[in-house]
Amino acid sequence: MSSNNGTSPMKGLILSGGKGTRMRPITHTAAKQLLPVANKPILFYGIEALIDAGIREIGIIISPETGEDVKQCVGDGSRWGIRIEYILQAEPLGLAHAVKTGREFLGDSPFVMYLGDNLIKDGVGPLVERFKKGGNDAFLLLKEVPNPTSFGVAVLKADGRIDFLEEKPAKPKSNLALVGVYLFNPKIHDAIDQIKPSRRGELEITDAIQKLIDLGHNVDSHILKSWWLDTGKKDDMLEANRVVLDEMTDISNDGDCDEASRVSGRVHIGKGSKLVNCTVRGPAIIGEDCLLENSYVGPFSSIGDGARVSHAEIEHCILREKCQIIDFHGRIADSLIGVNVELTRSGSKPQAYRLMLGDDSKVEVV
Ligand code: DAU
Repeated sequence: MSSNNGTSPMKGLILSGGKGTRMRPITHTAAKQLLPVANKPILFYGIEALIDAGIREIGIIISPETGEDVKQCVGDGSRWGIRIEYILQAEPLGLAHAVKTGREFLGDSPFVMYLGDNLIKDGVGPLVERFKKGGNDAFLLLKEVPNPTSFGVAVLKADGRIDFLEEKPAKPKSNLALVGVYLFNPKIHDAIDQIKPSRRGELEITDAIQKLIDLGHNVDSHILKSWWLDTGKKDDMLEANRVVLDEMTDISNDGDCDEASRVSGRVHIGKGSKLVNCTVRGPAIIGEDCLLENSYVGPFSSIGDGARVSHAEIEHCILREKCQIIDFHGRIADSLIGVNVELTRSGSKPQAYRLMLGDDSKVEVV
């Protein structure tokens, strides 16, 4: 039986709960979905993708640990002219459990589920249009990956429809990973009611979609050709930052650069920022109220609001808000540096690295 998904407006469900343990120590205290890529929280990319697809009602799943930060950062949606509702998931019991938690908000509407820590280049507008036309009960976005064991994996039939799915299989039967974007109609709720927690103790959305297939419903997919990033780890974050900055086409300078400073390529400098005797080579973004002195900022660097950098060279880095790299006299590359971190060279004897690093910190020295 073909489904009509176009009768009621599509809603958005963004998953921003979970614990974020893979990004410790950067997210010991903050939501991984709020980590910045090109100085914008990852979560905002998902919200904006849903808005571009015409969705005006978005529910965000939050956790007790980081929910308040998410609320404070995102607000009620009025900055985008939409309504955002927050849904508290008391424990991270799985993606399907998150949908269950959002049941009241979702009602009987079709919806896009978007994982708040994922970034995809292409919007979801064309997929939403295709889904609304009907014929499918779920629609998945897939991408060929070199490491399918880290993801939900789909095996397709000859006609491109989904044959079966497996969550993080030890021996994957295809290299097509489930990207964190799913379109559903209300049939998914019945399927979720029929599944049991997986070996890792979670109600898996992958199992719920498999259940839809087993019940004879239509599940179709689209293979993404453009980039997609699951921003779980430091190198993924740096890669996301690189890709987004690489696509930045414009230039803006709302700051103050002295005559000795050289800014070349695609660079954004936020208001209130001051550059003294600096060289900046884009693509790069410098937030608001930063102070950069006698320093070099190289390609693929993002510097958060209120940061201070002096006598340092930065390249392919994310420096978060208010971090201070003072009189460093060295180059920092391929690094993610958290809020308020201080890094300095003291010159005091005996010569040594003096560190205060949180649990799970990673430092490489040569
Ligand atoms: O990134 C794509 C992958 O995402 C898919 O290939 C997998 O099939 C899917 O299960 C999922 O796997 P992950 O292990 O990467 O999911 P993670 O635990 O990182 O959670 C994804 C997002 O959902 C993240 O923003 C946290 C949020 N979340 C997660 C859980 C488990 C919740 O809001 N509630 C939850 O209970």
